[in-house]
Amino acid sequence: MKGPPAVERLTPIEAAAEIDRLIKDIARHDRAYYQNDAPRISDAEYDALRQRLAALEAHFPHLVKADSPAQRVGAKPAQGFAKRAHRQPMLSLDNAFAESDIDEFFASVRRFLKELRDDPAIPIAVLAEPKIDGLSANLTYEHGVFVAGATRGDGETGEDVSANLRTLADIPARLRGAAPERIEIRGEVYMARSDFLALNQAQEQAGEKIFANPRNAAAGSLRQLDPAVTASRPLRFFAYAWGDCTEEPAATQWEFLERLQGWGLPVNPLAKRCADREASLDYWRALAAERADLPYDIDGVVYKIDRVDWQQRLGVAARAPRWAIAHKFPAEKAQTRIEAIDIQVGRTGVLTPVAILNPVTVGGVVVARATLHNEDVIAEKDIRVGDWVIVQRAGDVIPQVVGVVAEKRLPGSHPFAFPKTCPVCGSRALRDEGMAARRCTGGLICPAQAAERIKHFVSRDAFDIEGLGGKHVDSFLEWGLIKGPADLFALEALDRQSLTPLRAREGWGELSARKLFAAIAAKRKIALDRFIYALGIPQIGQATARLLATHYGGFAQLREAAEKAADRESEAWKALVGIHGLGEKMAGDIVAFFAEPHNRQVLDALLDELTIEPFAPPVSVSSPVAGKTVVFTGTLATLTRDEAKARAQALGAKVTDSVSRKTDYLVAGADAGSKVAKARELGIAILSEAEWLALIQGN
Ligand code: IVH
Repeated sequence: MKGPPAVERLTPIEAAAEIDRLIKDIARHDRAYYQNDAPRISDAEYDALRQRLAALEAHFPHLVKADSPAQRVGAKPAQGFAKRAHRQPMLSLDNAFAESDIDEFFASVRRFLKELRDDPAIPIAVLAEPKIDGLSANLTYEHGVFVAGATRGDGETGEDVSANLRTLADIPARLRGAAPERIEIRGEVYMARSDFLALNQAQEQAGEKIFANPRNAAAGSLRQLDPAVTASRPLRFFAYAWGDCTEEPAATQWEFLERLQGWGLPVNPLAKRCADREASLDYWRALAAERADLPYDIDGVVYKIDRVDWQQRLGVAARAPRWAIAHKFPAEKAQTRIEAIDIQVGRTGVLTPVAILNPVTVGGVVVARATLHNEDVIAEKDIRVGDWVIVQRAGDVIPQVVGVVAEKRLPGSHPFAFPKTCPVCGSRALRDEGMAARRCTGGLICPAQAAERIKHFVSRDAFDIEGLGGKHVDSFLEWGLIKGPADLFALEALDRQSLTPLRAREGWGELSARKLFAAIAAKRKIALDRFIYALGIPQIGQATARLLATHYGGFAQLREAAEKAADRESEAWKALVGIHGLGEKMAGDIVAFFAEPHNRQVLDALLDELTIEPFAPPVSVSSPVAGKTVVFTGTLATLTRDEAKARAQALGAKVTDSVSRKTDYLVAGADAGSKVAKARELGIAILSEAEWLALIQGN
């Protein structure tokens, strides 16, 4: 292949044109690499572009441009870590607080797996171990060699902290003995209590930051830009799970822990195989009694179904596996005084009372505010300003006020009068029938609602705009820079013409402003499920947003369906309500959102600015059922309905409850009813259970 002409042979005009092109190309590849994690060319090709540009600039120094990447210091972003996608998502766990939640866990496993449902005598063994209060990490080993490590991040993508993880003595650079070709090993990075106290003492003496608890200290120590700092911190590691692996590493969770140990990774010495529910609860009680004496913080017990084949069949619901659960310890409590009760206005206008407390330490963390939920809770508990109250913290949950210490009440106090108007915009605040919440009726004119909507829009699980926190949103609104979410994308253009550009405003500088604009620009392309979630439709959380994304595939389809569904007699409404996991109430909120004229304006403005990526089914697009709509009916012989649905969804199929023109397959078990007739009428393929299994197993 012919290379580009030698630099010496170019005229200045040709050189200038090529320099321009190279700068644009390099910037594009930088974006693809650093922001979208999706390089489009090899490292060698990229280096060649940079070298060519350098050669041109050396030969034509008067053509060097200010925005040339060669003028930037260092190729990598100077701040922060590179992103690293996990090969398998890092899941979270459902929480259980009461023994009845654990009963339900075992019962749901039994209901899900047909042979367990049919034979109650088969015991369900679990592996139980302490839930370490640290931060999880994902270690990738290839041919037994540590090649990379990342934080959990949003579960899909974390931060590449390889260099820092390498400094932990507990993390071997090489696994002992035979190891899989590639394996992701998951575990918890934590700091022992004694090490935490010593570190804080040293920090204090050096006039450095004090950490609130061992978990924060561990997180702060791991997320250091200089690995030498991490190396100086006493971080430890327990391994407990795996993600992607080129082979099945073990048949049981217990066996997997043995393998981990064999490889030279620390596993928690208190891990224990429990034969059934009773043994699990005994373990939990014993550990609760021992908790205070352990050398590290724990906040509960994790139970994992021991058999790996059962784990795989149980699969994942929304964000947490069906085969594991965290059984939390009771919350830690303390007493303090309520100094005031503030009323906050949320993005949907709900007025939430918040107790402002005389700061108190609860379980190692200083608590200064606690939610009071709503006016009924205040009335029921008769919580008054000036009262002594018991506050509690349960894990990451916002601190709560459990109750009033009646004997400490001072004379002359009054019951709290809940406001009947919005404290922010003054509009009337009303209670819908049967609802506990009082809502501001100010809607669009209420600045608090606008602010909260934008904060939700930019939050981590939504647009995740780095460097744009709640306080910034408040000041942008105050300065009149934005009114709604779409204005964020016009911010940079507006700023160029502004007499007071962002860099000149309080709290901002040249670099931070430029970074913010880059962070916003990076989010002009957004995944469909994140976009739906970001809209802040009442009741539509991440899991439901994902359901909608899977079901409709594209935003235009969702919008059209939601608009048509305003007619409750329409097929569109039936289809929406028929999405498994959605109810009439949620469907109603979706329809109302898309019908509201202001929301439509906001949507149109956003669509002008954004590219919304159609939803890609997460797994096995190659499956013949990916993207197909499936309905199950009747009794299946080998699978419970839930397992059948979950498996279909894992292969990228949509599962709905009713047959319509959009249905691709009706899978009919024994005693199937009217759905078969309807499918026949519509000419939809009807499969027996065996035919369906053959289809998904590719036989
Ligand atoms: S297992 C699919 N085991 O808890 C199961 N998690 O709430 C993956 N954690 O993100 C997690 N100790 O950071 C597991 N022994 C343990 C754990 C543990 C702490 C954390 C982990 C996870 C979070 C979920």
